[in-house]
Amino acid sequence: MRILGIETSCDETAAAITDDGSVVHSSVVASQTDIHARYAGVVPELASRAHVERITPVIREALADARTPWNKIDAVAVGHRPGLIGSLLVGVSAAKALAWSLGVPLIGVDHVHAHLHAASLTQPGDPSPPPSHTDHFPALGLVISGGHTSLYLVDSPTAITRLGATIDDALGEAYDKAAAILGIPFPGGPNLDRLAASDDADDRAADLPVSRLGPDSLDFSFSGLKTSLLYAARGIPSSPTQRLPHPAPPPLTPERVRDLAASFQRAAVRAVIFKIERALDAADAGDLGHNARRLARLIVGGGVASNSRLRRELADLAARRTIALHIPQPRYCIDNAAMIAGLAFHLHADGVIADLSLQAHPSATC
Ligand code: KG4
Ligand code: ZN
Repeated sequence: MRILGIETSCDETAAAITDDGSVVHSSVVASQTDIHARYAGVVPELASRAHVERITPVIREALADARTPWNKIDAVAVGHRPGLIGSLLVGVSAAKALAWSLGVPLIGVDHVHAHLHAASLTQPGDPSPPPSHTDHFPALGLVISGGHTSLYLVDSPTAITRLGATIDDALGEAYDKAAAILGIPFPGGPNLDRLAASDDADDRAADLPVSRLGPDSLDFSFSGLKTSLLYAARGIPSSPTQRLPHPAPPPLTPERVRDLAASFQRAAVRAVIFKIERALDAADAGDLGHNARRLARLIVGGGVASNSRLRRELADLAARRTIALHIPQPRYCIDNAAMIAGLAFHLHADGVIADLSLQAHPSATC
């Protein structure tokens, strides 16, 4: 089944053609990084206007790359939640118009769930395709992106239950803010990662906190880490009642920026690894309330899944716990439409088909 997927939830205008949930014939992503760079963050109104300008050429390019004429499209899928409402509306409107005019089913896809599908994507003729997404459930799912940081129990590609989520910043958002504190240019996350990964970076230059929350909590928190980085970089503000001011921090030289970036990365990644281990322990103890106790797979998705240190530490964790790690190719970690079209195949098989009343929803439902 050949599905056209459309994704416009944030600042990437994307379209893709996939077969049967996994084979990607084309995946076009028009990034808006250049538009938002000078604001050091995504400006919603600018994002939705850029989607309007780009959506038609991006869809045409996806069809051309896949050598697929309109009459070979079996369904149209769109990420319709969560995201920026103005951005989502552009994709949803385009998908409705196309599904109606082609006379094919319309499928609404949850963007966060689609990130968990990205590890199953492959190219035609791939000599070592990822194992089928339908094998070996239940699995533990982790989505780490600019808008979400959540752990899930994944019973099938479409049966996904949230176990925990960030109570403040998403991990990607924390990376972007940390980069802004350190004066690292937009896009902050990947640039901070690159700097932190330099050979001579000292990841213990600052002792930044690793959040654990309550003893059983599977939630995340990154705002304390962000504040600690701010104080390490710029100094601790003195209170009016304080006799002596806090000592001034070392000057923010390029070497200090690199070392603080590495210290931030170390603490952020440790917090994620810690929660994955806690969730796996809870599963082993039968505390997640599912039938099959041991979770033999970890599925990861979202923009931060391309982080170099995280990928390394996830691989170590998988070896230590003898679980299979499913992590997308870097190009499917960031927002893309192949993951939308891929998951749509499974939703369609479950009979989850929308009509023209499909709504864009800014917030996540699970
Ligand atoms: O999944 P995504 O493309 O968009 C959302 O759904 O949010 O994720 C974008 C986020 C941004 O915050 C970006 O800074 C972060 O992922 N990111 C990274 C890296 N690459 C992208 N964060 C840390 N290290 C990276 N290598
Ligand atoms: Zn995303």
